Amino acid sequence: MSRMPRVTRVIPVDPRQPDPAALRDAADALVAGRLVVLPTETVYGLGAHALDETAVAAIFAAKGRPFTDPLIVHLASANELAGVAVDVPAAAQAFAARFWPGPLTLILPKHARVPDRVTASRPTVAVRVPAHPVAAAVLRLAGVPVAAPSANRFSRPSPTTAAHVLADLDGDVDLVIDAGATDIGVESTIVDCTVSPPVVRRAGGVSLEALREIVPAIVAADATVDATTAQIAPGQLLRHYAPQARMTVYDGDASALIARVVREVRGLVAAGARVGVLAPDEMLTALAPALAGGASHGRVSVASLGPGAAPEAAARVLFARLRELDATGVDVIVAAGPARDGLGAAVWDRLRRAAEGRIVPA
Ligand code: TXA
Ligand code: MG
Repeated sequence: MSRMPRVTRVIPVDPRQPDPAALRDAADALVAGRLVVLPTETVYGLGAHALDETAVAAIFAAKGRPFTDPLIVHLASANELAGVAVDVPAAAQAFAARFWPGPLTLILPKHARVPDRVTASRPTVAVRVPAHPVAAAVLRLAGVPVAAPSANRFSRPSPTTAAHVLADLDGDVDLVIDAGATDIGVESTIVDCTVSPPVVRRAGGVSLEALREIVPAIVAADATVDATTAQIAPGQLLRHYAPQARMTVYDGDASALIARVVREVRGLVAAGARVGVLAPDEMLTALAPALAGGASHGRVSVASLGPGAAPEAAARVLFARLRELDATGVDVIVAAGPARDGLGAAVWDRLRRAAEGRIVPA
């Protein structure tokens, strides 16, 4: 599809004290049907007026996203829920009361006024109230629901900085509000509340443990989803969040894992490949002597996921590290992940997709 070339305006703001004029510009642009990239607490979102079908269609064009993949509708507050969803079940109300504003998206029966374009003609709508002060303020000022996918080109890692956004979408959106790096770093948790008990469709910024405190019967996301059954949550294609380099994730006990990663990296270097290693700090420290000097010298780039026991640290940097490794020109990425509890579930899900399912026992 051809598009009018345009200039993308970038407005830097301080997230704690955003310039009211910048917020007003963003809100006005949204109401006028323009594409505006906003920071949220999870990742940057590519926003458009959710009730304006032309504006919504422009999101898909800018991202190169298939129309079959529905969008999340963002609201300024839970009080606006009745404008986009109907028959909200008690479980959804309880989740909203506990986690909104925040990194939780609820799938609910849709209100007739939500365009089919937003929901890919599904009878359901995905809704979230973001906590980021800039997103919240713009939504309040705009006074309309805002459809927003992550502001990356389709299948690329989601953007956690304005630089990531511009790398993918410069010239394809009207305005980018730059409030620095996002806090959580992985997308919202998606919970389908149209079934009972509710089902997690995408692990994300709210942990399963936290959701269980509200609804103990909640069903976890199916980690076995593969390329052929990947439409359980539409858009949850296996190849997603993918770096350009071919990535494999190794999993196992520390000592076996270290031995395996060293073996893989040496073999790849011997075969002439440039190799990226993406792993928690302890792992990189243990690998350092084996990868220093010799044949590996200059052919291996390392990227840290932070302390292995702190999956929330890995969540914050994961997408940036994938983009950084790609920028170093590596052919292959050898990866290991952090602890699986808390945000670890979301990190492992994104690692698995970035590796197109290649998680190999060490
Ligand atoms: O944190 C986030 O959720 C970010 C920020 C910008 O809010 N947004 C985000 O949007 O990750 P997106 O479009 O990249 O991912 C939304 C996911 C897609 O996999 C989509 O298929 C799914 O939500 N989705 C949207 N509407 C749905 C529906 N009615 N039923 C099932 N899945 C739905
Ligand atoms: Mg996305």
